[in-house]
Amino acid sequence: MADQPHVLGTRGAEPEPTGPTTQPCVMLVFGASGDLTRRLLVPALYNLACDGLLCDRFALLGAAMDPLTTESFRGRLGKDIEKFHTRHAFDQAAWENLVGRFHYIPAAFDDLGAFQALKAEVARLDARYQCGGNVLLYFATAPRFFGLLCEQLHKAGFKDGPGWKRIIVEKPFGTDLASARQLNRDVLAHWHEDQIYRVDHYLGKETVQNLLAFRFSNGMFEPLWNKHFIDNVQFNVAEAVDVEGRGGYYETAGVLRDMMQNHMFQMLAYLCMEVPGSFDSHAIRNEKAKLLEAVRVYTPPEVERHVVRGQYGPQLDDAGRVVKPGYRQEKDVDPRSKTETFAAARLHIDNWRWEGVPIYLRSGKALWKRGTEIIVELKKAPQVLFRNTAVQSLGANRLIFHIQPYQGIEVQFHAKIPGPTLRLQPVNMRFGYGEAFKASRYTGYEVMIYSCSHGDATLFSRGDLVEAAWRIAQPILDGWEAVPVDFPNYARGSWGPTAASDLIERDGRRWFEVLTDDVLKQVTIFEDGEPLFLSQLVLALRPEVATAGEVLIRKGDKGREMYIVVRGEAEAVDDAGRVLKTFRDGDFFGEIALLIDTPRTATVRAKTACDLMALDKASFDRILHDYPHFADGVLRVARERYALDLQAGMLLGSAAAR
Ligand code: BG6
Repeated sequence: MADQPHVLGTRGAEPEPTGPTTQPCVMLVFGASGDLTRRLLVPALYNLACDGLLCDRFALLGAAMDPLTTESFRGRLGKDIEKFHTRHAFDQAAWENLVGRFHYIPAAFDDLGAFQALKAEVARLDARYQCGGNVLLYFATAPRFFGLLCEQLHKAGFKDGPGWKRIIVEKPFGTDLASARQLNRDVLAHWHEDQIYRVDHYLGKETVQNLLAFRFSNGMFEPLWNKHFIDNVQFNVAEAVDVEGRGGYYETAGVLRDMMQNHMFQMLAYLCMEVPGSFDSHAIRNEKAKLLEAVRVYTPPEVERHVVRGQYGPQLDDAGRVVKPGYRQEKDVDPRSKTETFAAARLHIDNWRWEGVPIYLRSGKALWKRGTEIIVELKKAPQVLFRNTAVQSLGANRLIFHIQPYQGIEVQFHAKIPGPTLRLQPVNMRFGYGEAFKASRYTGYEVMIYSCSHGDATLFSRGDLVEAAWRIAQPILDGWEAVPVDFPNYARGSWGPTAASDLIERDGRRWFEVLTDDVLKQVTIFEDGEPLFLSQLVLALRPEVATAGEVLIRKGDKGREMYIVVRGEAEAVDDAGRVLKTFRDGDFFGEIALLIDTPRTATVRAKTACDLMALDKASFDRILHDYPHFADGVLRVARERYALDLQAGMLLGSAAAR
């Protein structure tokens, strides 16, 4: 390398660059005319350029079957970037500088001649952009081409010459243990493990990367990170979207292959692994591998006991008409399909740190809300001190990692409610990425390209890690294959099959539900709320669970909270116990207490087991203080509703009637 690389692009109003640029290289992308390139890779390169992190000794060569030219390739990407870029403002100059480095050659992957042409073009670009022989090969293709591509690149002599040669491989890496092993053999037949970078896009997410930073840069929590203090851990990856027209692919996958075996097991490894000796990629990946190897591999009867699966059925309206199709009615899906679109599992990690701590995982499509969270629930404090007080039972402290769409970390603990008697209330301490950092949103691929160019494989899966994850998933797949299943077993837009609740409730625990702002928008008084307001509100909500029959608010009590029904049914009753109104998923009650100082005028009790979100007046007032214009709207909606309720004779507050 001669002189110091310069940065490419302009920064505009964005923050200063935070480190050295990428290493000089030619990036050869196979599958360059596909979705991944236009939606993620190019926007990621553009972000790197805008942040001053892309070296100006850089060129991209696209290769795919499509008969494009360099001009038409650039033209297409020019249109796409307007749609898919993630910046606050589009920087035309940075884009033009970047796209001017993009080139394209059509290539059939079974044609060795095409690889020789690609090699000559890479050499030309390398000389022109002074890349020192460094080549980053990106396989943005279907996995069936991975082995072939490795072989052709080897035959065409891509490994020769000065500089580094590295391959980034997209998921899925295998469809079961045997195929993953075979793929590893095919890829490693011609290339060395150190040259292979297997992508899992969850590891590119800032909030996932922060799991390691959080655990190992803070002295506060790591001493508690074990079976002596942690009761259970929950990983929740809920998607509101269905299979989005990808039925053909999904039929070969299912949620276990699509989400759990890769993304969720990676997060599990980060959260539960031992402290590595350093931040070196070998040290971290060794610990991840050890953790995954310690996860108990289930026998078929254990699969029955510890894992449940589900498939969504249609969404029906009140008259029983289909509003949206079930999975079996989706395009390219077998009408008798056994593919699971939901799975929940209880795993065990058989090592000293985690022995006896259940690890619950849950993921599915077409659920009520989108949200990825990790909840670390600590063991409860001893009740003994509170025996002769008004405190009936102590709840658990929780540490919640909000991975997406909200990004933050929250600690839940108890505090004394002001007043002469000793009463406790769960409260939160929260950190939100959006408030703490002003950086543009990333695609998750920036860090992948950046790290690979520096030869840092920390965020990529190693061959043995992939196999270790399949080793856990394989018996579940086999167990399911052998047993008939009754699908569909959950409705679109619901919380998944009841078997998932049973799985955790058998242990005397419950899934911890985290609300997101899109769910909050379904609540009338919040429906026009601006995103920042809603995101603050979401974090102020406190989850509560109630058993059937439990009184939630009592007539005459002073109201300090409103409740949103997340799941289940609650009913307002009069003095004679007659039901006045039923509240279902998404309904709310007790909201007047947030607006007017008034006693409750009706009793509300849980009809079934309920998941609720409680919002207390202090939090609500604090948020409204920051968003005063919203207070008027909330008051107006509440007054309208209040008047309506008054007519119906089932007012939950009385001050407005006075
Ligand atoms: C992909 C899966 O790996 O991850 C998709 O194939 C899924 O089915 C997606 O929707 C979820 O990713 P994210 O980043 O939106 O959570």
